[in-house]
Parts: sequence; C-alpha cells; structure tokens
Amino acid sequence: MVDETKLNEFIGKILGDLGGVFSAPLVRMGDKLGLYKALKEQGPMTPAELAAKTNVAERYAREWLSHQAASGYLEYDSVTGKFTLPPEQAMVFAEPDSPVYLQPAFDMAAVMLENQPLVEPAFRTGKGVGWGNQSQCLFCTTGRFFRPGYQTNLVASWLPALDGVVAKLERGATVADVGCGHGFSTIFMAKAFPKSTFVGYDFHPASVEQARVHAERHSATANTKFEVALAKDFPGKDLDLVTFFDCLHDMGDPVGAARHVRQTLKPDGSWMIVEPAAGDKLEDNLNPVSRMYYAASTMICVPTSLDQPVGAAFGAQAGYAKLSSAITEGGFRKVRKATETPFNMVLEARP
Ligand SMILES: C[S@@+](CC[C@H](N)C(=O)[O-])C[C@H]1O[C@@H](n2cnc3c(N)ncnc32)[C@H](O)[C@@H]1O
Repeated sequence: MVDETKLNEFIGKILGDLGGVFSAPLVRMGDKLGLYKALKEQGPMTPAELAAKTNVAERYAREWLSHQAASGYLEYDSVTGKFTLPPEQAMVFAEPDSPVYLQPAFDMAAVMLENQPLVEPAFRTGKGVGWGNQSQCLFCTTGRFFRPGYQTNLVASWLPALDGVVAKLERGATVADVGCGHGFSTIFMAKAFPKSTFVGYDFHPASVEQARVHAERHSATANTKFEVALAKDFPGKDLDLVTFFDCLHDMGDPVGAARHVRQTLKPDGSWMIVEPAAGDKLEDNLNPVSRMYYAASTMICVPTSLDQPVGAAFGAQAGYAKLSSAITEGGFRKVRKATETPFNMVLEARP
C-alpha cells in the first residue's frame, strides 16, 4: 500500500536531485563563459548587462540567469530586474581558492556521464576500465576537484598532524608523492618547503606531462621532478616522506604498493595516505558526501583498480579498517588516523 505522504516526500527529494543533474551543463557553462566571475566582480546585473560584460547573447544570458535564480544559486530582484551572486554562492562557484569551491564537482558529473559507455559493459564482464582510457576530461577535472582541499589543508593542517614531519621538511627532506596526477599536491608542498626535494610519480604519462607544465607555471621546478612510475616500483630510496593523495584505493594492489613504500622509506620515515572520508560500514556512509563518493567510485575508482593486476577494487569508501589492514599487511608496524576533514581522512603509517 503506497503511503501518500512518503510518496510526496520522495518526489520532492527526486525533484531536487533532478534539478541538480539538469543544472550540471549550466553550471559548467557559467564557469567556462565567465558568467559567475563577472557576477562576482561586477555585482548585481540585468541579463543585458551580463551579456555585454561577458560577450554572450542576451537571450541565452536571460535564460541561464533565470535557471540560476530558480536554483537558489543567484538572487533575483524583481524590482530592478537584476541578478546577484551572494558571497556564499561565490565561494562555491567563483572562488577557486575557497575551501568550498565545488564548481569542479559539476565537471566530475560530466566525466561520469562520459564514462557510462565504458563502465556499463564492464558491469557485465566484471573487467576494469583503464584510468588512461576513461573520459578525457577526467585528469584535469580530478586535479581541479581536489586542489581546493589540498590548498586549504595540506600545509596548514595535514602535514603538521604527522609526527615530526614538518621539522624534517623545514630542514630539507626527500619526498615522493605517488599517484600525483597533475601534481597540485606536490607543488603545494614544494613551494612551502623549498629546502626539501619532491618527486611526483604517476603511471599515467599524460598526467605526468601536465604536472611538469604546472611546476613550470608555478615556478616550482627548482625542487620538483615528475616521473612516470607505478606505485609498486617507483625508484625511491631512503626517503623521509612518501605521500599518496586520493589514489591508494584506485590502485590494483594497495598491499603491494604498501610493501614497496616500506622499502623506499628510511627506518624513521613516514607515509602519509590521504583518502576520502568514510566509515567502515555502509550504514555509516549513508550521507550526502558518501553518496557522491560511491557514485565516483562506481564510475571511476572501481573500474580503475579492476583494470590493474590484483584488482583489489577497494573503492572510494574503503574506510579506515580496510585501509589500515592493507597498510599493515604491507609491513608497516604503526598506522593511525592523524586528522580528518568532512571530505578526507589522513592516515600516517610508520615502519
Ligand atoms: C583520483 S587520482 C588522484 C590524483 C592526485 N593525487 C590528486 O589528488 O589530484 C588517482 C591517481 O592515481 C594514479 N594511479 C592509479 N593507479 C596507479 C598505480 N598503480 N601506480 C601509480 N599511479 C596510479 C592515477 O593515474 C591518478 O593520477
């Protein structure tokens, strides 16, 4: 027997969800066409003013602005006919350095849609989809998606949460940043600790190329290098610190990676593993952040791992118990959760 009240509540929720899905291309265009930026810089504007400022057609500007107002992304004043980007919404859509800059999450939604023709057949075969074969906007989107979190937390709170690591970095340490992607994490650390040397490793050659470009652009080449290598056999020795940012769960063989990291570290070295925030059980993860992670995990992380030898497919919501047991199995004696944010947990492993 259908409960009318529950049905209506659920329809209300689905309408909200569909509104979000429908909004994805509009939010992305708002970014690409500079519409949010103009609204942030200029303040309240009519469609004609926004169109003139951003060199777009007025009719399109008006429809886009109407959608944004209906979404609660902009405020509309019916007396002046002007639209405003409130400061809170600006942090989400128009301030790349804000800790809650979520615009790239809409690009991630596009990546997942583009991955569907690859992942759907994999559901039948159980096979993986190689990282490098997935949607071509995956790589820069991943970098942009994680960058604000790293910019806010990495140097300010994550590294200080590790035992004695900041003092070593200040004196001059050797660091490998494995699975570095486009290298934002590597570059943030390199800029903060100029006496230390950093090598970023990733198995995806095009990402390593881009990381080199970013290092040039941010004048970080003096103490960074980027090389193509697998987590299981990157060429490090006597390292003070190895870092893995949002990638251990993507790997086919996290235990094999742990074993190799153990061999590359000094006896008093540290391994920092940044992973998506997650509880150990599904019932702990039935919330909006985990919902997004499970979606990305199904469309990106699980296929990536299943494509590699071993194919452990931890998924993006592996949780502390599973991650720490892989780390211990790889030969580390001590593991702890050093700190966490609503989006990430930071683990520290010691030999
Ligand atoms: C979700 S991305 C994270 C990238 C980057 N650390 C960041 O936080 O922006 C995962 C990265 O792990 C890399 N990766 C996956 N499996 C790998 C492996 N077995 N060895 C080395 N890199 C790997 C991918 O190429 C990709 O760059």
